[in-house]
Amino acid sequence: MRPPARPGVARSSAPASAEPAAPASLLSDFSPDRFGVIGLGRMAQALLFPLMASGLVPRERVLAVVASEASVQRLAEAQPGLAVGTDPAAAWRAQALLLAVKPQQLAAVAATAPPPAAGAEPPLLISVLAGVTLGRLQALFPGRRIVRAVPNTPCLVRAGLSGLAWGDGIPAAERLWVQQLFRQVGEVLELPEAQLDAFLALTSSGPAFVALVAEAMADGAVASGLPRALAQHLAHRTLAGTAALLHEQALHPGQLKDMVSSPGGTTIAGLRQLERGGARSALIEAVIAAAERSRELA
Ligand SMILES: NC(=O)c1ccc[n+]([C@@H]2O[C@H](COP(=O)([O-])OP(=O)(O)OC[C@H]3O[C@@H](n4cnc5c(N)ncnc54)[C@H](OP(=O)(O)O)[C@@H]3O)[C@@H](O)[C@H]2O)c1
Repeated sequence: MRPPARPGVARSSAPASAEPAAPASLLSDFSPDRFGVIGLGRMAQALLFPLMASGLVPRERVLAVVASEASVQRLAEAQPGLAVGTDPAAAWRAQALLLAVKPQQLAAVAATAPPPAAGAEPPLLISVLAGVTLGRLQALFPGRRIVRAVPNTPCLVRAGLSGLAWGDGIPAAERLWVQQLFRQVGEVLELPEAQLDAFLALTSSGPAFVALVAEAMADGAVASGLPRALAQHLAHRTLAGTAALLHEQALHPGQLKDMVSSPGGTTIAGLRQLERGGARSALIEAVIAAAERSRELA
């Protein structure tokens, strides 16, 4: 059995069509003097705080921008010494920036971006905005090198997946640095941008689908007599344990299903109900619908 996954450690278990990122042991010699963060909400905090803790991005190099004074106050109290304000001018002068506002806030942010300084090295802009394409980012932020990243919500507990699609002209050292950045919160994969909609449907919408399964299974246990809190706890642990078993032993899901289905037993009785209810087809269609919606929104 392989050792359990540790936060921030990328496994090279990615299938061949997605490029596993460079080995975690490779270190980049790119180290921006200033790291701008435009939008320091839930996702940017999930990325930035582990980066500061690891030393990959020293706190004194960060210039973060939010929209409201209330958020400035809150972040100043939670993160003493972190430069946070509402004026993006200084952040835009950084050599590398994380863009993490909501997609509907993008136009307002783009209006604050100055033209890149003539003759200077184009800054690196890392966008985590769901559904905003490299083409659109390039049009909004000309003269910048752009990375489109698709992190998922489990990044908040450093068990995430991040897909990276590169814009033009990003040197190897900067690619490596971006990979290291996202490794702090989970596994990192490089994909052609055309695959990001399907990636997002599975990894970013997927947690909602899995949460629905967890809730419904707990409902079934409550209906069968377990107290709610215990049923919920058991559902979470069952999902987490099953995912770990599939991953650690590289089992095909069908193998695991067959392992726990004894002839005439309880599991096969339950599986029969799931097939009757169209659960498999519903999940397939859910992922396809999410991917199609992502393409529509782009
Ligand atoms: N959360 C996730 O799990 C997740 C996963 C994948 C991708 N993403 C992407 O990450 C992005 C951010 O999501 P989130 O959940 O972190 O959102 P969020 O918690 O609402 O954070 C948005 C941040 O942007 C700031 N902001 C808004 N308008 C701004 C402006 N004009 N200039 C500078 N800052 C501005 C907000 O400041 P105030 O607090 O002052 O309003 C806040 O700090 C989204 O595009 C989303 O698609 C999120």
